[in-house]
This record gives sequence, structure tokens and C-alpha cells, in this order.
Amino acid sequence: MELLSLKNIEKTYEQKCVLNKVNLSIKEGEFFTFLGPSGCGKTTLLRIIAGFVQAEKGTVTFEGNNMTNTPAEKRNVGMVFQNYALFPFMNVFENVAYGLKNKKDSKQTILQQVTKYLKLVNLEGYEARNVSELSGGEQQRVALARSLVMQPKLLLLDEPLSNLDARLRDKMRMELKEIQSQLGITTLFVTHDQTEALTMSDRIAVFDQGNCVQVGTPYEIYTAPANVFVANFIGDTNLFKVQIENNKAVLNSTVSLDLCKDSLGEYISIRPQDITISDKTEGSLNTLSGIVKKVSMSGPLIEYIVTVEALELKVIKLNTIGAEYKRGQQVYLTLEPRCIKILNE
Ligand SMILES: Nc1ncnc2c1ncn2[C@@H]1O[C@H](COP(=O)(O)OP(=O)(O)OP(=O)(O)O)[C@@H](O)[C@H]1O
Ligand SMILES: [Mg+2]
Repeated sequence: MELLSLKNIEKTYEQKCVLNKVNLSIKEGEFFTFLGPSGCGKTTLLRIIAGFVQAEKGTVTFEGNNMTNTPAEKRNVGMVFQNYALFPFMNVFENVAYGLKNKKDSKQTILQQVTKYLKLVNLEGYEARNVSELSGGEQQRVALARSLVMQPKLLLLDEPLSNLDARLRDKMRMELKEIQSQLGITTLFVTHDQTEALTMSDRIAVFDQGNCVQVGTPYEIYTAPANVFVANFIGDTNLFKVQIENNKAVLNSTVSLDLCKDSLGEYISIRPQDITISDKTEGSLNTLSGIVKKVSMSGPLIEYIVTVEALELKVIKLNTIGAEYKRGQQVYLTLEPRCIKILNE
């Protein structure tokens, strides 16, 4: 069932279009992510949904009710800000209890609820700590508990993991996902980190300069990017400007590749792991001879940069025994037609 619907949302700041006719529908219980580079309008859209910012055009509908002009405090939406925005002069308990106190809940209810949500975010025993005495990850959990204790229908998270170091980020990613599925709370998550988006989301909306360019599951976005921007932004890819004629993509005067079908497009994209590399050739379709220019090993994976005439291709292989090719070695790359995506800008 649909929980939130955005129709033709438009927002301008100082005559610059920040959001351009955004249409989205978010289902109940979904973990939905806004993904895009810095400045593409993610936070602005989240603020419009929360009611902190007014759009010039468009409607925000929540559970079938038009909420476009409803004040933030009446929206039943919880927001965790990127900088956590905790109250610095209050301890952990007081921070989490703040909203319930404002609602004039009884002391007993407040104690019960704050205890329950601090336990949920793994902060039992931290009640009396001042927030300035907490690590980034702990502050992030207090901010999360402070939102969750209000039992919002929709949880908005604005890059909540970006201030944490890599290890803590991985850990919090899993914890956050676990809490979300335990509570079944519909969550809108903002990030510019593709790995975060791919690993956590049910669905992702990709933004490019205020435009929502694709909505889909992580698998759909990764394997069938809608355009060059999405293919480039999500995951590594080999992207070439080409001429397409007679079922072939012509890369330059000497290199052309057979395609599955003759669709229109100006670019082809092939993921590094879809290229096979070998020191032998069976002369199969789309096999190119090249020289290994660079080898970098990151543990389970080996990444090669291979030059084929004037072109450079990135190839990723699993680092299994006997899999390594050396710098300067001649190799053969095979680009299967079904792995070549035809794209436009
Ligand atoms: N209050 C404001 N006044 C003027 N311009 C603004 C305001 N808020 C945002 N902008 C501009 O709107 C654009 C989108 O900003 P927004 O904060 O939504 O981007 P974002 O996608 O969240 O980026 P980031 O990943 O860096 O947080 C930016 O160009 C920003 O400078
Ligand atoms: Mg932002």
C-alpha cells in the first residue's frame, strides 16, 4: 500500500531549479533511498516531505491525505539530521524524552518508552551521559532513538552514516537495517554513497541535478541503468561514445563490437566484471587483443587496466589461484554482446 506520494514537486532557490517535477510513490514498510551527488536536491526534498521547506509547486500526499500545507509537527514524520542536532545541554535520557515531554506524556510512560528505545539502539546504561561525551556512532543512535520514540509513520534519515569511520559505518548500516525491519517502519534514507544505497534499500531513486532519473530496486538500477549518468554514478563501468550501425557499435576506426540488438544510442557501457580476460584466444566474437597496463589487488579482487589500441578498459576478476596476469603481458578480452548496454545521455 502506498504511504507517501509526491506529485510534480518543484523547488527553486535564487532562480536556480533545485527540484524539477519530482514524482515518487513510497510504499508502506519500504526502505527507500534518495541517491545522488552533492547538491542534487536530496536534503531539500526530504525537508519538503518533513514540512520544514515549502515547495513552489506540487503536492505531498500521506496516507491518501494532502499534506502539502500541513505544518511539520502535525505530519507524524521523524527526521534524523546529518549532524544529529542533539540538544547539547541535555543528557541522553533527556534528549530522547524531549518529544514525549512536549506531548505531555506521563512520567511513567516517558520512562518506559525512553528505556525501550534506548535498548533498541543498544544504549542501555547511557541515560545519564552528556551527549558531548558520546562518540559519533553513539550520538547517531541517540538521534535515531529520539526520532523513533515518537513512533512516526515515516522515518527520514539524512546521510546519518556519513560522519562515521568506515568500520563503524558498516556496523551501523547493519544495525539500522535491523532496527528498521524489526519495527517495519517506512524509511526514507538519503545518501550519496552507492554502496550504502545498494546494500540497504528496497528501492532507490537516483537524482541528477534536481531530476529523478531512475527508480528501481538496487538490482535494476545496477544492471539496467536508465542513462549514462546512472551507469557512471552507480558502480564502475567502461563507457564509450560509439556509432551504432548494422548491429555493431563502432568505437574507433579499428575497434567495433557486435551487439545483441540494434537499439539507438550514443554510448555503450560494460561492467568491469563482465569482461573476460585470458592469455589465450579462441577467436570468439568480440575478442580484443590488449596489453595489461596496470594491476591492483584489493584482496578478493584483482583490477586490471588493459589498453586495446587507443582504448583503456577496466577488468575485474576474482583473485583465485593462478588468476593473475602481469603488467606488460598480452591478453585477450572478450566482451559478450549480452553484457553490452546501449545508453543515452
Ligand atoms: N536555503 C537555501 N538557500 C539557497 N540555496 C539553497 C538552500 N538550500 C539548498 N540550496 C541549494 O539547493 C541545491 C540542493 O541542495 P541540497 O541541500 O538539497 O543538496 P543535497 O543533494 O542534499 O546535497 P549534499 O549531498 O551535499 O547534502 C544546492 O545547490 C544548494 O546550494
Ligand atoms: Mg544534503
